Amino acid sequence: MRIQGKEYRTIWYEDDVVKIIDQTKLPHNFIIKDLETVDHAVNAIKSMEVRGAPLIGATAAFGIALAIKENNDLKFIKKSSEKLVNARPTAINLQWAVHRMNNKLSFIKSEELLDIALKEAEEICNEDINFCENIGLEGLKIIEKIYKQKKDTVNILTHCNAGWLATINWGTATSPIYHAHKNGIPVHVWVDETRPRNQGANLTSFELNEEGIPNTIITDNTGGILMQRGEVDMCIVGTDRTLSTGDVCNKIGTYLKALAAHDNNVPFYVALPSSTIDWETKDYKKIPIEERNSDELSHIEGKDDKNNIKKVLIYPEKSKSMNLAFDITPAKYVTGLITEKGVCEASTNGLKQMFNR
Ligand code: MRU
Repeated sequence: MRIQGKEYRTIWYEDDVVKIIDQTKLPHNFIIKDLETVDHAVNAIKSMEVRGAPLIGATAAFGIALAIKENNDLKFIKKSSEKLVNARPTAINLQWAVHRMNNKLSFIKSEELLDIALKEAEEICNEDINFCENIGLEGLKIIEKIYKQKKDTVNILTHCNAGWLATINWGTATSPIYHAHKNGIPVHVWVDETRPRNQGANLTSFELNEEGIPNTIITDNTGGILMQRGEVDMCIVGTDRTLSTGDVCNKIGTYLKALAAHDNNVPFYVALPSSTIDWETKDYKKIPIEERNSDELSHIEGKDDKNNIKKVLIYPEKSKSMNLAFDITPAKYVTGLITEKGVCEASTNGLKQMFNR
């Protein structure tokens, strides 16, 4: 998708380094950063210079290639794989990508390892782009149906950033929106700010603006009243891990939005590529929920009137705070899962049938 009119992917390999868009600097500064070592990749994931389930998976895949470039000894690759998997605990794409890379690389001659690793990382990216494009085409059918009935702008609420910045291109939750816009359907997006890191305000609103899609940032608590007033036609969110039962783990606050949608008969869709499905875990209480530094709550960063980026403390110095990064929306509150293969019920049967498992 575009930034200042120029097409980008979120990650690519060029001049022997991995290039990323540093998302901690958006929306005020657009900075492309080089990752040259596996530790650079691990730090980029931990510090959320790259974030979003599919993108951290792709970064880990390139991280393995960077490890091989540094030292193609098997012990080093194994240790690097562990570091990458442990960089963030919740999104399943991280483990998925690292396992896929290691499977591909087993039994490969050491002189071919780097070449094959780079090709596989590239393949993971290309596959994600195709999957996200299909998610867009499937989600488009839902938006078209609403538009045909309503004959007016379709208002879509989204949480966090499940946009192209969270994937390689298109996004998951945003892909149906981009496709609707390209097909001439008038859409307007309610963008949840998504405290504490404000991925909605800083990233989703930013990328929608760059594509010319009308959007309005709201606080995380506003969605409920908008639904009561009939100002939300549907919700679409992303996910970091969806269980084979259809339970959805996503950015903190998603669950409360699903409850409000349920109470107001607003369809609540979750968009995901199959790389985000956890086929093993059956009990959502077993999903590791990331707890991040409480500084992310107590401090806020922004631009002052002299254009300097500043970070300020907003809480009483002595107060404690807690920063859980994800929550779980039980399958019963999910209208449907929009996947690359089609839309299915959020249930064991729905997913089994869709993916022939
Ligand atoms: O903590 P983040 O910013 O990595 O969380 C991202 C999300 O919760 C997204 O909704 C999810 O990864 C889906 S990305 C297409």
